[in-house]
Formats: sequence, structure tokens, C-alpha cells
Amino acid sequence: MFVNFRRIRKCQCVQLMTTCLVLSVVMVCWESLDNNVVSHIKSYSYRYLDNHFTDINRSLTIPRGQARSFSNFRYLLDHSEKCAGQDVLLLLFVKTSPENIERRNAIRSTWGNETYIRNALGATVKVVFALGTPPAAAGLQQRLVHEDRLSGDLIQQDFLDSFHNLTLKLILQFHWTHNRCAHARFLMTADDDIFVHMPNLVSYLRDVSGRGVTDFWVGRVHRGAPPIRSRDSKYYVPFEMYQWLSYPDYTAGAGYVVSRDVADKVYQATLTLNASLYIDDVFMGICANAVGVSPQEHIYFSGEGKAPYHKCIYDRMMTSHGHVEDIHDLWRAATHPRVKQDTSGLIGRLHCTAVKVSLLCKPYYFNTYPCKAAFL
Ligand SMILES: *[C@@H]1O[C@H](CO)[C@@H](O)[C@H](O)[C@H]1NC(C)=O
Ligand SMILES: *[C@@H]1O[C@H](CO)[C@@H](O)[C@H](O)[C@H]1NC(C)=O
Ligand SMILES: *[C@@H]1O[C@H](CO)[C@@H](O)[C@H](O)[C@H]1NC(C)=O
Ligand SMILES: *[C@@H]1O[C@H](CO)[C@@H](O)[C@H](O)[C@H]1NC(C)=O
Repeated sequence: MFVNFRRIRKCQCVQLMTTCLVLSVVMVCWESLDNNVVSHIKSYSYRYLDNHFTDINRSLTIPRGQARSFSNFRYLLDHSEKCAGQDVLLLLFVKTSPENIERRNAIRSTWGNETYIRNALGATVKVVFALGTPPAAAGLQQRLVHEDRLSGDLIQQDFLDSFHNLTLKLILQFHWTHNRCAHARFLMTADDDIFVHMPNLVSYLRDVSGRGVTDFWVGRVHRGAPPIRSRDSKYYVPFEMYQWLSYPDYTAGAGYVVSRDVADKVYQATLTLNASLYIDDVFMGICANAVGVSPQEHIYFSGEGKAPYHKCIYDRMMTSHGHVEDIHDLWRAATHPRVKQDTSGLIGRLHCTAVKVSLLCKPYYFNTYPCKAAFL
């Protein structure tokens, strides 16, 4: 009797202490927790209950003459014949900065090697790099001209290449596509630290194209994302720039694909929208919203996340973000013939499902492909 009583008291004491601990942690973190939770609740209700974003479109529409100020930059480097006379399956724009020559070279000799893609996959893919200008003092422009003479794939306009000018770079891509490569069946835009599994992507796009799909826009979709109002954030957006509670749905800028008809519609939208919102993938969402196109999720587009290294992942992956030093190794491993051999057949598939469950289905592991990717 006595022993039991003591045990209960001990138990209560532990409970009390835990409660105190939790409460104090909550109190310390309350402000940021609060901001975060409240802004998400608000933005979700805005996205799902309230609104179809028509007033965003209305209030960002400006006269064409004024919208031109976001696109009428002079081309410093251009390749107007890049797509001429060819049946281009995919035009792939890599968003890059002037100083990232190593990344561009790595892409040219791995997943972005057009010759390899033509010989090994029988597809015409054009890979070009979108840039603005380096700061004059950096003396980089001469090096870019030289690089372009060797590789013939830089598309550069006369605006300062900076994080807050990324929307100008987005507009460059859609305008260049409209003027120079409008017949490409798909347009992709990607970061320069992304890995694209080109064989998987080509076979997927061939299939989509064969089915005559239109209104096609795939990637990692952000739904009901709230604007970030904290000044410390890289993605801070002031109220004057965007006054609503939630962004229209958009795909993570790390890498997404649109079909030719969507590329054309988005181009049309850029002719009448105020592009001063400097987050390029959000601006893409605003354009698409204005022309009635919505994004679809593809579970093997990673968004900001980095995929686990494993052949069972390589068998299905489309994109993975955050690859620089490892890009050669990853390209070799991911395109090795053994990948297909080892992951096919009943045994191979069962094995891969188990492996992918162990890699992707963990609590607190949101960053790359979702758990359900293990079963598809
Ligand atoms: C691209 O691939 C071709 C054929 O596979 C190869 O000859 C060429 O060296 C590669 N280019 C680069 C830049 O690695
Ligand atoms: C964007 O580019 C324009 C044109 O070069 C430049 O005047 C402006 O300062 C740049 N904006 C930012 C935020 O870098
Ligand atoms: C575009 O929006 C910005 C605010 O983000 C505003 O300062 C600017 O005046 C607008 N431009 C036009 C042409 O309305
Ligand atoms: C957005 O605004 C443009 C120009 O005012 C209009 O043509 C278009 O239909 C609008 N889109 C939507 C979805 O309301």
C-alpha cells in the first residue's frame, strides 16, 4: 500500500516537471511559433475557402507600355538560331550567375550534354543558360564572352544579375522562348545546382507529348504558401509589394516543366503584369493564375530537397536539388546500366519498395520525395 502510494507521488512529480518544461519551451518559442502557425492558418483559409485570386490579377495588371520595362533589356549574348529547323522536345533554361562557370561546365559534361542526349536517347534537347550582367567591377564579362565562344549556350540580357532580379530572368526565359524557340514541345527552367535525370525526364516527356497533353505544368507544388513578412528572411516580401495572405499555387523554382501552350500563355501574361515581385517562382504562379493554368505535383521532382543516393531512387528520379561537387559521380551512378537491371523484375521491385520505404518514410523528413513515392 505504502509503496504504491510513493510511486504515484513520484509519477505526479515527473508529470508536473514535464509540463513545466513543455510550457517554458512553448513560452520561449511562442512568438515565432505563433507567427508561423497563424500565418499558415490564414493563408490556408485564404487559399481554400475564400478566394480564387482574381483580385490579385486585377490589381497587378498594368498598361503594356509599363510592363515592357521588365522585358526590354538588350541581349548581350544570344543564339537566335539555336532551335531553328529542329524538332525540339525540350528547351531547358538553367538560371545561372556569371561567376558559376564551374557549375555550367559540370552541367555541360553531364546531364546537359546535348550530344549525349541525341546519341544515347535519340532526343533533341537544347540546354541554355540564362544570365544577367556581372557587376562592372568584377571584370567577368570578357570571360563570359570567351566561355560563350567555346560553348555557344549563354543567353544574357543587360540587367544586373542579382537575387532580386530573378523575376527579370524568368521573363527573359519566356520571352526568348516565344521569339526563338516557340516550337519546342516543353520548356523547363532549373537552378544551376540541380541534378536532372535526363533519361528519365526524356522518356516521361515523350510519353506526355505522345498523349497530346496541354495545360501541362509539373514540379514540386507549393499550395497556399503565405508571403514571408520577417525582414530577416531571404524571401521577405513587404506588404506594399504583395498585400494578400497567400500566394497562388506555384512550383518550386529549383526545376519545373511546362508544355508549349503554357509557355505561350505565360508569355502573354508577362506583357500586362507588374513584375516587381522579385520571387521568380511565385511570380510564375501569378502569371499562370492570370491565364488559368494550375500546377500538378510530380513526386519525383524534388523541389528544394536533395534525393537520397540509391539506385532504387535513380530508377525513378527526375530532379534533385543541391548538387555541385557530386554531380559527376551522381551522373555516372544514376545512368549506369546496372540501375535498370537491378531494379526491374519482381524481386528487384520488391527490394526497391522496401529500400524506398526505409529512405523516404521517416517522420520529420519532408525535404525530398514524399513517402508515397516508395509505392509508385
Ligand atoms: C558530350 O558527350 C559526347 C558523346 O557522349 C562526348 O564526346 C563529349 O565529350 C561530351 N561533352 C562534354 C562537354 O563532356
Ligand atoms: C536589376 O537590374 C537593373 C538593371 O540593371 C538594376 O538597375 C537594378 O538595380 C537591379 N535590381 C537589383 C535589386 O539588383
Ligand atoms: C508595381 O508594383 C510596385 C510595388 O511592388 C509599385 O511600386 C509600382 O508602382 C508598380 N508599378 C506600376 C507600373 O504600377
Ligand atoms: C487577369 O487579368 C487579365 C487582364 O485584365 C484578364 O484578361 C484575365 O482574364 C484575368 N484572368 C483571370 C483568371 O481573371
